[in-house]
Amino acid sequence: MAHLLDNTIILITGGTGAWGRELTRQILERFSPKEIRIYSRGEHAQVEMRRAFPDPRIKFIIGDVRDKNILNFAMRGADYVFHLAALKHVPICEDNSWEAVLTNIYGTQNIIEAAIQNNVKKVVDISTDKAVEAYNLYGVTKACGEKLVINANKNYPSATTFMCIRGGNVIGTTGSVIPLFAEQIRKNNKITLTDGSMTRFLMSTREAIGLVFQAFEAAKGGEVFVMKMPSATMDMVARVMVRLLGDSKTAVGNIGVRPGEKMHEMLISKNETVMAKDLGNGYFVILPHYASKELKASYSKYKNLTIPYFSSQNTRCLKEKELTDILQKEMPVFLGQKLAQVT
Ligand SMILES: NC(=O)c1ccc[n+]([C@@H]2O[C@H](COP(=O)([O-])OP(=O)(O)OC[C@H]3O[C@@H](n4cnc5c(N)ncnc54)[C@H](OP(=O)(O)O)[C@@H]3O)[C@@H](O)[C@H]2O)c1
Repeated sequence: MAHLLDNTIILITGGTGAWGRELTRQILERFSPKEIRIYSRGEHAQVEMRRAFPDPRIKFIIGDVRDKNILNFAMRGADYVFHLAALKHVPICEDNSWEAVLTNIYGTQNIIEAAIQNNVKKVVDISTDKAVEAYNLYGVTKACGEKLVINANKNYPSATTFMCIRGGNVIGTTGSVIPLFAEQIRKNNKITLTDGSMTRFLMSTREAIGLVFQAFEAAKGGEVFVMKMPSATMDMVARVMVRLLGDSKTAVGNIGVRPGEKMHEMLISKNETVMAKDLGNGYFVILPHYASKELKASYSKYKNLTIPYFSSQNTRCLKEKELTDILQKEMPVFLGQKLAQVT
């Protein structure tokens, strides 16, 4: 059966990043797009990606989301936009606050305006748990990005449908704790643990991107789809990493919670639960406060949430064996063949 993405032109901003590459890979594997446009700033990452994806349907465009002219050019004739480009490292966003605002907020507004101007059918904004009850600037800018995207359905009536997908940590992406632990074990045989009882949502990149298509198809406009991710304590992550990559001498040091970090992450806040539904299939959905009767009706068959909020503390905790299996599958991506030797 034909899929929504078949025979279409798809623009992926931040396409050379961790999510972008996996999204590209799965689109090519599962569907038959006419063209995928990868939009990002760094030529080196594009050259590498071109080598890794030698598919003539992929076109690379150098551009910044802050530059509306190039975005307009990139969106010409595009059917769908997946907006992934962001500054996402918490400390970098804190230290370069205005840059984070320009990319994550101003850049997102540019996406909205260029999409409307080019009659794009659907825009998917990828957001994060850090946007919920935001505690650092990265989260604040992503929360603003979400609001701009969700409100665009109401503020700019147009042919374009806007939606968000919120997810927690995807294992192995740059800057996340797992590659950091791996690097620390390799270099110094020591890992620095912030707080063992800290919890984080965790999912494989493959699984998270697999969920993106489900929400993309279902969206009617204005929804924030929330991935039902399981979580793990940092203690467990450290234990599994040491078992997989370390030895009896691997040291675990405690450095305490860093500025801007929460003990537990949240994917749906207390205030949002009233507008949330349990889709039962890997997702919750949060409807916008302006939801029309029709939008509400289309989700009325789904149950309201029975939990007061959805956090990495009250979600399902991964079993140690499950986490070990996921890490074994994911880690060769950034560890080369090392895991094959230790397992
Ligand atoms: N990683 C996670 O665990 C996670 C979890 C939840 C949500 N998310 C969200 O998912 C999205 C992708 O995350 P990721 O982990 O794939 O990030 P990533 O690996 O750091 O990739 C970021 C991408 O954005 C591009 N980019 C950055 N600034 C840009 C700009 N001003 N204009 C155009 N392109 C720009 C980067 O390329 P250049 O630097 O070359 O431009 C790169 O392609 C982000 O929006 C993030 O908030 C990630």
